[in-house]
Amino acid sequence: MRLSVIGCGYLGAVHAAAMASIGHDVVGIDVDTDKVASLAAGRAPFYEPGLQPILEAGLESGRLSFSTDPAQVKGATVHFIGVGTPQRKDGHAADLTYVNAAVDALIPYLAPGDIVAGKSTVPVGTAADLAKRIAPTGATLVWNPEFLREGYAVKDTIEPDRIVIGIEAGSDGERAADLLREVYHTAVATDTPYIVTDLATAELVKVAANAFLATKISFINAMAEIAEVVGADVTDLADAIGHDERIGRKFLGAGVGFGGGCLPKDIRAFSARAEELGRGDSVAFLREVDAINLRRRDRVVDVLAEALGGAVYQKRIAVLGAAFKPLSDDIRDSPALDVAVRLHGFGARVRVTDPQAIDNARRAQPQLEYVADRADAIRDADAVVVVTEWDEYRREMTPAELAELTDGRIIIDGRNCLDAAAWRAAGWTYIGMGRP
Ligand code: UGA
Repeated sequence: MRLSVIGCGYLGAVHAAAMASIGHDVVGIDVDTDKVASLAAGRAPFYEPGLQPILEAGLESGRLSFSTDPAQVKGATVHFIGVGTPQRKDGHAADLTYVNAAVDALIPYLAPGDIVAGKSTVPVGTAADLAKRIAPTGATLVWNPEFLREGYAVKDTIEPDRIVIGIEAGSDGERAADLLREVYHTAVATDTPYIVTDLATAELVKVAANAFLATKISFINAMAEIAEVVGADVTDLADAIGHDERIGRKFLGAGVGFGGGCLPKDIRAFSARAEELGRGDSVAFLREVDAINLRRRDRVVDVLAEALGGAVYQKRIAVLGAAFKPLSDDIRDSPALDVAVRLHGFGARVRVTDPQAIDNARRAQPQLEYVADRADAIRDADAVVVVTEWDEYRREMTPAELAELTDGRIIIDGRNCLDAAAWRAAGWTYIGMGRP
């Protein structure tokens, strides 16, 4: 099938390349000329494992192309909208500028029978408005939320755990939902749950899923706060409650909290939308989820200051990690980078390292010192802080290696990802989050 994808960021670029890899003819459109040039030349513009090979293969096969010219979408049967919906600068609501611009760009080229499939995360009610706007073209709007995780985006796109299609009553949405079965033919062939529902439910499924995940993380971080007072171990607690199938151990990783381009802004946008709908109380708990999450960043700084005798001023601190999570170069709302910025603000001499995210981090926070090699970050540091649980730190880094680089013997495990006993046995002051 011929498809277009509007927006070639973390979501759209992966979607375009993944759809080409399962046999479709795909054109990706973006207004960013550098991004389009990079993709068209076969260079993934961001770090995402598995993207580079499918990008190259797609371009080589001739089935995948990229352009800044929206006219290139002509002839596609399904047009996916995968542009960003960041937090508005003046509040908590989602900024729909890019979604509206994408629809405006598409409208002149839509033909009767075309399908526009929204994938961006939007406030509930957006899809119904967009459906009205495209109706005069004879195209049909459906909402097809995306659940991919950065770091596993290619796999999550080709083998999703569910497909959700929201359609408008009375439209030819049923036909659209059938056509999308053909688009996602590989996942449909393996009996992936295929849920056809209304537009509002499809939009809500996405924000509900992210709100639930954020709540799960803040729940365990709230337990960490209690554990810190009574000397309990939140990691053992998570293991123990996680054995209950109804609870599950996933997303009970306590530490410096969640970040990224999705969870933080999605819970804020959800609260803002609920307020507009007169149901702010229904999701008031999300404000608490946000507050607990942000407190964890302060906590790392406080713990470090205490370990260093009361203040971080003028202390040399190695910050291991800048990305919001491993296997990503994304620093949007990254707890790791935020901790580095806070330490710098308190006058610490911070050196930040990360296997992938240094360039993005430097662009966003140029005042910090960045080093590519973790040894250079750690050398002569008074304390080491792990804030992104890359395998490089979690599995490969040893007390012996660090002992050769510095006389400092303080390690703060902001992700509870290190072997506490091993570090302590080697003479380090190991401090985890919510652990004795
Ligand atoms: C999240 C959702 O997991 C995806 O399903 C969704 O599609 C995506 O947002 C989106 O809306 O596009 P992602 O932002 O890639 O995916 O990252 P997650 O794996 O959810 O991690 C989010 C944050 O939570 C990270 O900072 C991570 O370090 C943190 N986290 C995760 C914890 O602090 N503890 C945990 O136990 C798990």
